[in-house]
Amino acid sequence: MKRLFITGGAGFIGANFVHYWAENHPGDFILVFDALTYAGNISSIEPALADERAVFVRGDICNRELVEFLLGEYAIDTIVNFAAESHVDRSITGPDAFIKTNIQGTHALLEAARSIWLNGHGMPHRFHHVSTDEVYGSLGPDDPPFSETTPYAPNSPYSASKAASDHLVRAYHHTYGLDVTTSNCSNNYGPYQFPEKLIPLCIINILNGNPLPVYGDGLNIRDWLYVEDHCRGIELVINRGRAGSVYNIGGCNEWTNIDIVHLVCQEVDLAIEASPSLRESFPDAPASRGAKSRELITFVSDRPGHDRRYAIDAEKARRELGYSPMTDFDKGIRLTVRWYLDNTRWWQEILDGSYRDWINRNYGSRGIEL
Ligand code: NAD
Ligand code: TYD
Repeated sequence: MKRLFITGGAGFIGANFVHYWAENHPGDFILVFDALTYAGNISSIEPALADERAVFVRGDICNRELVEFLLGEYAIDTIVNFAAESHVDRSITGPDAFIKTNIQGTHALLEAARSIWLNGHGMPHRFHHVSTDEVYGSLGPDDPPFSETTPYAPNSPYSASKAASDHLVRAYHHTYGLDVTTSNCSNNYGPYQFPEKLIPLCIINILNGNPLPVYGDGLNIRDWLYVEDHCRGIELVINRGRAGSVYNIGGCNEWTNIDIVHLVCQEVDLAIEASPSLRESFPDAPASRGAKSRELITFVSDRPGHDRRYAIDAEKARRELGYSPMTDFDKGIRLTVRWYLDNTRWWQEILDGSYRDWINRNYGSRGIEL
């Protein structure tokens, strides 16, 4: 039985991971630790928190004393670090928060883990760090996909801050013997993704009849993975990965942005065309008036420093851990569109600000301090 400390567990991938772990490891204890920044949403994990083996604490990973106290108090043996500032566009307009949370926060977590787990005789433990393929930089059209030995070449403040955190995790294994693993994953999509990211942004903008902003020529390529497949990969690394090792996790699923936007348009149109109640709920969606969503596509100025192509070589995870993705892209996109159609309250409360008011009323505006 494990006792997990899941940072960033109220965010997109973290929330999916909390559900995944609770379902597949019902005897384990889970402490979700999250600062509830703009990207954190406690309603994403409410069903999991109803279980008495789950606890939620609002706090900042930079608060080393608080983390240290909780690791000891709850006899935690596994940290899974999802907490991060995660949006490239925000890192361009405001990099400070990325340096603080992604670098200093990861460092504070490592120090807390070292002080609790390596004290005296030490105890069995694992520190799993969730990272991104963006640390490897950008690929040309004919380059082989990123492997675990591809040199780091981060291009945005976001990817540079994640790269720095990866190096710290590695150093804590090499120098102090902390039992760490790291996974570098490609772009995720699925339920509970904050509506600033490409796929949920497009679904919601279509429903509201708003433009679909495509950066530059729309030909940038990402390797997309359904979030549940990422959660399964992390589970395999935690349970079977070698201490000190890095594993790339990806979908073997490269798409240009413009093709993705077309696919999302098509899926939303099909759903609306088949449902009078959706037409009533979303009168501004093009399909509700017999038009096509692709009319909303609007090419806009490119993101500064926009990486051209990411692709992951997940052979090491397949060979050592038996990992392979299970959800194909058509099915994953269909499931994702369906989730946003069935959970309008989740994203409407984010858009109209009522969710943030509720958090501040129920959790205060800052969270626990020690
Ligand atoms: P997200 O932005 O949806 O969620 C981040 C969560 O971290 C939020 O709940 C937020 O409240 C919390 N958080 C932020 N700062 C914090 C702090 N100082 N202390 C405690 N909690 C804090 O991000 P995501 O998309 O779920 O990404 C999770 C992790 O996976 C990140 O480390 C990211 O780099 C990595 N990753 C993401 C993707 C992707 O496609 N989304 C791909 C590969 C790797
Ligand atoms: P995003 O979801 O922000 O993930 P990342 O930048 O971490 O890969 O963006 C995915 C791709 O979609 C990326 O190439 C930027 C592009 N994009 C747009 O074209 N328009 C948008 O409105 C957004 C948010 C992203």
